Amino acid sequence: MPSVIRRASDLATLVADWRALSAKVGFVPTMGALHEGHASLVRAALEECNRVIVSIFVNPLQFDRPDDLERYPRVEKADIGYLADLGVHAVFVPAVAEIYPEGHVTRVVQSGLVDRLCGASRPGHFEGVLTVVLQLFNMVRPDRAYFGLKDYQQVAVIRRMVRDLHVPIEIRALPTLREKDGLAMSSRNALLEPRLRALAPRLRAAMIELDDAFAAGETSVARLTAELRAALAAIPDSRLDYAEIVDPDDLGPRAEARVGDLLAVALFLGPVRLIDNLRLGDERGP
Ligand code: PAJ
Repeated sequence: MPSVIRRASDLATLVADWRALSAKVGFVPTMGALHEGHASLVRAALEECNRVIVSIFVNPLQFDRPDDLERYPRVEKADIGYLADLGVHAVFVPAVAEIYPEGHVTRVVQSGLVDRLCGASRPGHFEGVLTVVLQLFNMVRPDRAYFGLKDYQQVAVIRRMVRDLHVPIEIRALPTLREKDGLAMSSRNALLEPRLRALAPRLRAAMIELDDAFAAGETSVARLTAELRAALAAIPDSRLDYAEIVDPDDLGPRAEARVGDLLAVALFLGPVRLIDNLRLGDERGP
């Protein structure tokens, strides 16, 4: 069984012991309700590091809607069992007061990248992500930290923070794991009632159609996204948050699409917000 740690002070002791052994420490931050996508990050960390720690913390600071925070799935016992089977060395499961004690007022604020895509539609979201990630980095002090490209913009803003603030941690970004029908794995998928779950793969299918149209020679972003919007509008109980083709480095908008550009989509299906992305002309990688 992994050590299950709830207090920052116990975490400091454990990591100091690891460091005394000169172990390479890998860290996978999560919000729990773990699935194969998370497991892929853990497996990569186990391959590349001598000690692996996973955090499970549903970070209130990054939720822009109280109902989303309330509904977010919490299955701590199952998660710890899952991580034990994967062979991690420790799990950090702090209470909210451990991360945000009374009087915690410092925030990590970024500009630029955070103003686009999810940052534009979820005010304060990335401030919450960056604040918790930097804090967890400082508590765990890993050599490497593992993130999924499913949350492409999240990886981009974290990389930028690490660069700007000289955080001495290597960021590893890994491809998206999907269900057989193409739906990107996500903790929120568990919240889709069966009827909505059956509709969910149409998001990825519409994105692949756009990529096919791009491969067939269409480069007008206006035309490509108009087709996509029409396909998504036909999904019952859906509401588009955004669908954009952007520069994969600065996430700025494009008028003409190029190979490697990022197609990023956020779509509400009933109450559940799904996100997905692909790189145009990318041989249908994850
Ligand atoms: P969470 O949504 O639990 O995701 C934890 C990590 O798993 C993230 O790096 C995410 O990109 C990755 N992940 C999620 N679904 C994936 C999939 N289908 N394939 C591959 N990787 C996937 O992202 C967060 O938590 C939080 O914002 C966090 C970084 C922990 C800060 O609170």
